[in-house]
Amino acid sequence: MSSEPAIHPSAAIYTGIVLRFYDFVVLQFSNAFAWCCSTQDVLLPFFREYVGAQAHMDIGVGSGYYLAAAAPNFAEVENLTLVDLAPDALQYAKARLQTAGHKRDIETLTHDIFTPFPKTLDGRFDSASLFYVFHCLPGRLSEKADRVFAQVKTTLKADGLVYGATILGQNHNWIGSRLMNIYNKKGVFSNREDTKEGLEQVLRKHFAEVDDVKVVGKVALFVARKPI
Ligand SMILES: C[S@@+](CC[C@H](N)C(=O)[O-])C[C@H]1O[C@@H](n2cnc3c(N)ncnc32)[C@H](O)[C@@H]1O
Repeated sequence: MSSEPAIHPSAAIYTGIVLRFYDFVVLQFSNAFAWCCSTQDVLLPFFREYVGAQAHMDIGVGSGYYLAAAAPNFAEVENLTLVDLAPDALQYAKARLQTAGHKRDIETLTHDIFTPFPKTLDGRFDSASLFYVFHCLPGRLSEKADRVFAQVKTTLKADGLVYGATILGQNHNWIGSRLMNIYNKKGVFSNREDTKEGLEQVLRKHFAEVDDVKVVGKVALFVARKPI
């Protein structure tokens, strides 16, 4: 019998086989036809745009698609840290980034983002990315994002920036509604009540500068700077 606490389905699902199909199922099919937010035209350029000058942390790495595609953007970044609760995802993303030609050291941290980061990461990062993580986390957005930003902001420099994307809860098309039902039932998503306004409110609580949250299809894209 194992004494390890069970990992929540929002992270437990990210094992080898799921990671191999993730790009096709999520980034190609679902983003195009269910969430109506193009990986190539919207999410990848957005991911690349805000990578900081010296130190970047990617939280919730999944298959590492964005990291690998943005590898040239990290060429000058002295510290790149990957954070995830799923060890397989960290390993998979790191290997993919190295295959994509990333030469510098990559740190990995198996970590639940609801809990405090190690003190060694205090005030370390220029930027942190959180792509497609909030809609997976259990709980109401006002509460889960509040808890996560409270932790993430401790790792940022005074003028540091957090950015990311998350799938909102309402008014989905036929394919989106089917996927929402399946994923919410399985606990892979917990986003039925997630709204743009709720996200903006929590961002304003934790950051001095918050860009207007942009919604493309059913995906909210956020950028906030200067942790309070
Ligand atoms: C949907 S994937 C997103 C992957 C990638 N960022 C993307 O946009 O394609 C969500 C990721 O968040 C991770 N995750 C879920 N819950 C977490 C938690 N509590 N702490 C840290 N990572 C978590 C999962 O293991 C998974 O790698």
